[in-house]
Amino acid sequence: MAGWNPFRRKTPAKAARAEALPTAVVKPLIREAHRRGNEGGGLPRFNTTASDQMSGRGGDRFALVRAKLRHAFTPSQPVADRRLFAGRDDTLKTIIRAIEDQRLHVVLYGERGIGKTSLLHVLSQAASEARYIVVYTSCGANSNFDETFRAAAAEIPLLFHSGFSPTAEVTEKGSTLADLLPSEPLSPRKFGDLCAKLTGTRVLIILDEFDRAESGSFRRDVAELIKNLSDRLGRVQLVLAGVAADLTELVEHIPSIRRNIFALRVPKMSEGEVMQIVANGEREADLKFDTPAGAFVVEVARGSPYIANLICHHAGHAALDQGRATVSPADVANAVDRAILEFQGRIPTPAQARVRRLFEQGRQDALAMTARAALAADGVFDSADLESSNEITARKAQEAVEVLVAEGLVKPSPGDGPSQRYAFVEEGLPTLIWMIWAQRNLNREPQAQSQPTRAATAS
Ligand SMILES: Nc1ncnc2c1ncn2[C@@H]1O[C@H](COP(=O)(O)OP(=O)(O)O)[C@@H](O)[C@H]1O
Ligand SMILES: [Mg+2]
Repeated sequence: MAGWNPFRRKTPAKAARAEALPTAVVKPLIREAHRRGNEGGGLPRFNTTASDQMSGRGGDRFALVRAKLRHAFTPSQPVADRRLFAGRDDTLKTIIRAIEDQRLHVVLYGERGIGKTSLLHVLSQAASEARYIVVYTSCGANSNFDETFRAAAAEIPLLFHSGFSPTAEVTEKGSTLADLLPSEPLSPRKFGDLCAKLTGTRVLIILDEFDRAESGSFRRDVAELIKNLSDRLGRVQLVLAGVAADLTELVEHIPSIRRNIFALRVPKMSEGEVMQIVANGEREADLKFDTPAGAFVVEVARGSPYIANLICHHAGHAALDQGRATVSPADVANAVDRAILEFQGRIPTPAQARVRRLFEQGRQDALAMTARAALAADGVFDSADLESSNEITARKAQEAVEVLVAEGLVKPSPGDGPSQRYAFVEEGLPTLIWMIWAQRNLNREPQAQSQPTRAATAS
């Protein structure tokens, strides 16, 4: 019955012919239609209810593992659960020391997905345990000083204001610093004045995604507040986090606050730390990654906790789809394919076509070396970054960049340093290129059970 479409609008004559279809053909169709009508049979459904109960219907024997897997690897969310937080001991220790011993304000920066928000969650927990009042805010394009710090003031009980006795009526009925604020827009000075009156507590105000705030006056006001708080040895400290360039900008343009700030770039994870992500997930989901599969994940992730979570998540599902609770390198390869498809969805097609062309022309080494340098340097890199991240000569490095510049994938990046700096024309390109390269070159396992779909790999 090829070409027969039961949903096509028919002319009366054709409809008459359709009625004449053999019963042997029509009956199963009708049965199927009834089944779908009755129970929504063939349509994909959720496996768990909103209250995290297994729905019971259509669940396979791995349904429970599947449900756990969602919690074990969370590529689209920061880690909030300390049991799933891998590594970062030194970074966390350094931040805590800066806050506690040096009483500095902290600027945490690093590329998207490197783990800033996750670190801030764990830092918040540690600070809360030490009885700090922690105020967490995620900035947005429209963030302004008045709203942000009014909200922060509303989380600080009046009880800690030196001007009010703990037994006063206002402090007992749960009033906060916000109740003391004037109705006109809040200024850094006013907020700083208030903070200077705090006693018996310490406050950490976290401004995550600081780079998303578009208002220049918001940034200036925050810098002004940092200066104000530092001059008066206040009990309030700020922690700002965001993507690199903008934060360094903040620090550089206001030299007077530089010495009051501890700036830390969140580093790539070590291989051991990525392995820890795999191990935490295994424990959490009751799933095993065999040794080569774990090694493959570590190589592909190249220190990115985001990529590690994404690949582990997909690889786990790929194994379960095959009826296994042990993840093999073929499942990881499958996961890399899915990741490539996801990244492709975020990058304009012309850029993808240029990448594909270079791969087809055998320029995969130039692509991979440049992508590695970009990933290692948070996006903006120079020829020296290519040399060091690939262990190649200066000439080779320059040649590689030129190939990509000629293809319009990389462009010179403005800057006043001595060396020419470059950046990819799309933020997601280095990761996409790296994934495609890794798929072609890192999975050396003889092709086992599940052949990954190669369609995505631009080969
Ligand atoms: N220490 C960690 N252990 C395990 N997973 C992590 C860790 N840090 C980050 N991740 C994962 O990496 C991804 C990005 O983390 P996130 O904190 O949102 O990064 P950022 O805020 O820098 O963009 C998330 O999927 C998160 O689950
Ligand atoms: Mg974040």
